Amino acid sequence: MIVKAIQGYLSAALLTASVATVAAPISPADYQRVVDEAYAQFKDEKGGANADYIPILATVPSEMFGVVIITRDGEVYSAGELDYEFSIQSVSKPFTASLIMQQQGPRAVREKIGVEPTGMAFNSKMALEIYEGRSVNPLVNAGAIAAVSLVEASSEKDRWQQVLSNIEDYTARDLTVLEEVYDSEYETAWGNRAIANLLFNYGRLYSEPEEALRVYTRQCSIGINTLDLAMMGATLANEGVNPKTGKRVLDREHVPELLAIMATAGFYDESGEWMYSAGLPAKTGVGGGIVAVVPGKFAIATFSPPLNPAGNSVRGLKAIGYISSTLGVGLYGPNAGE
Ligand code: DON
Repeated sequence: MIVKAIQGYLSAALLTASVATVAAPISPADYQRVVDEAYAQFKDEKGGANADYIPILATVPSEMFGVVIITRDGEVYSAGELDYEFSIQSVSKPFTASLIMQQQGPRAVREKIGVEPTGMAFNSKMALEIYEGRSVNPLVNAGAIAAVSLVEASSEKDRWQQVLSNIEDYTARDLTVLEEVYDSEYETAWGNRAIANLLFNYGRLYSEPEEALRVYTRQCSIGINTLDLAMMGATLANEGVNPKTGKRVLDREHVPELLAIMATAGFYDESGEWMYSAGLPAKTGVGGGIVAVVPGKFAIATFSPPLNPAGNSVRGLKAIGYISSTLGVGLYGPNAGE
């Protein structure tokens, strides 16, 4: 009996200890410490190379590196490059998918675009040919061009304005297009033009193809900084309400669906690898940005231009993996971070 009592006491103590570990709130000092450590640890990392298939991206200084956390109540923790405006690129894609969810419900995203990860590169034409859904999911180029074409709009100008102001609702500040990036990308957009035309051919594009291509390319050329990116993620962490403005941008019940797509497809053919190491829904862009969301808590944003072969920022991947594992905030429990 005494043994049983001791066992009972011990297991209660252990349970309390483990609950205390999981539930312990993260203090402001903890947030700043992990941001500083991630910055210091990876700022001299030399792996990867700037994207150059959009020629102007090769000219962005490769050494720039910024790390920001914004909590759901708008507290900001930062290190490194905060002001430089880089092109948002594919990080814009889930946010335009959220606009479609707001306008037409999550079913429209599932039925008119798709929600399956492709396991292939972001610009794969093969995925479009192999999968019956064609556009496959809103985070690959095909699905993102389809998403732009789905926006209910009276004209190209109206379509663009809706896409831009939706993203501004997430950043809580007015944004502009980096026109040099737009020109550089639109002049060389033969692959995306092929994708838009193929989608149209298969009945999976919902506007005139060249209009969709132009608006999609403008969307990718929007200039944001590391703080903007973190605010975008913090809005999702805050269940769809921008922590700075208090404006609801996405209905609360749609946030899980959007995060699910980010978790399964945010890193394209590296999404499994990413969930294995960091365990968080996230989105990357070839401009060097990554945003990851800890649902109900905070967002982590990084900016660093050199990419790995899958098109994902090398320093950003490492920094977010480090922060996720150090704070133990992976969705399925603390991840290894490497
Ligand atoms: O369409 C493109 O290729 C670019 N505007 C966006 C690609 C991108 O950011 C892929 N992400 N890592």
